[in-house]
Amino acid sequence: MAFPQTRMRRLRATASLRGLVRETELRAGHLVLPLFIADAHVGDHERQSIATLPDLERLSISAALEEAHEVAALGIAAVMLFGAPTAKDAEGSGAWDEEGVVQTAVRALKRALPELLVITDVCLCEYTDHGHCGVLDTQSGPPRVDNDASVELLARVAVSHARAGADLVAPSDMMDGRVGAIRAELDGEGFAETPILAYSAKFASAFYGPFRDAAGSTPAFGDRRGYQMDAANGREAVREALLDVQEGADIVMVKPALAYGDLIRAVKRATRLPVAAYNVSGEYAMVKAAAAAGYIDERAAVLEILTSLRRAGAEVIISYHSKDAARWLAEQT
Ligand code: PBG
Repeated sequence: MAFPQTRMRRLRATASLRGLVRETELRAGHLVLPLFIADAHVGDHERQSIATLPDLERLSISAALEEAHEVAALGIAAVMLFGAPTAKDAEGSGAWDEEGVVQTAVRALKRALPELLVITDVCLCEYTDHGHCGVLDTQSGPPRVDNDASVELLARVAVSHARAGADLVAPSDMMDGRVGAIRAELDGEGFAETPILAYSAKFASAFYGPFRDAAGSTPAFGDRRGYQMDAANGREAVREALLDVQEGADIVMVKPALAYGDLIRAVKRATRLPVAAYNVSGEYAMVKAAAAAGYIDERAAVLEILTSLRRAGAEVIISYHSKDAARWLAEQT
């Protein structure tokens, strides 16, 4: 029955009524905070600010521990670790070094806070001197990222993270077949119980700029369009996710998040797996800049954005706003 019998505003009249019929819940337990781990020898510069990511820092291991204690106290589910080493080479060998920044950080975090989940980003771009996500084939023609050679190295990286104690490994490179290769290598090395959170539908996006400043991973030449997805393609995103499911992914991710709500929903429907949404660095930076300029209310905007990702179908939300959001959520109740 339509108006005047039906009055949608009846259930909006008070906070209690709105709470009673609210469809989507945002909890700190859904949130993941990314952390950038700097070289172990950053000395007394334990926290380095990042120009394009206001209020975020590159952390030494001891600073990361401090941060993780706060994160755990706020009820946030997990931290996701990215290495930001200064030493880089053509293959990105720092990525699978047992004494590398991420491996060292994982061991320290798991020792101090066994309950806090540690997810590691599995990629080469933070470790290669050319900034691409795999190794280059320079034999013939212009250099291109060699898929199969990169996959072998990525599997090695994932095992080194699992050996350090990572709870989940998250390949973000977008090479074909890497989820299957990582699954096989993990199983073979005794890590059959370590889940894979696959960056399944990761788009070549303008919104990763601040992250690349933080990790020093801007490609030295060209761009990532030869391996990351074209923003125009939704059906292809679903195919990518289904392939990762076949190869053994436990959670599938859509990244970025804000312009891709349709794909969070489509991937959820097609895979029936838990879905992660990555609210990326450029999305964070836009909100911070607008809030600093006084154009928007940061708290309201952040909670609205994160709730919209839950509504689209994401169980797991990776966001640089996680600490603020968890604090604001705790204040609300
Ligand atoms: C590594 C990686 C990137 C991000 C997550 N993992 C950068 C990229 O692909 O260029 C981006 C995260 C962000 O922007 O917050 N491949």
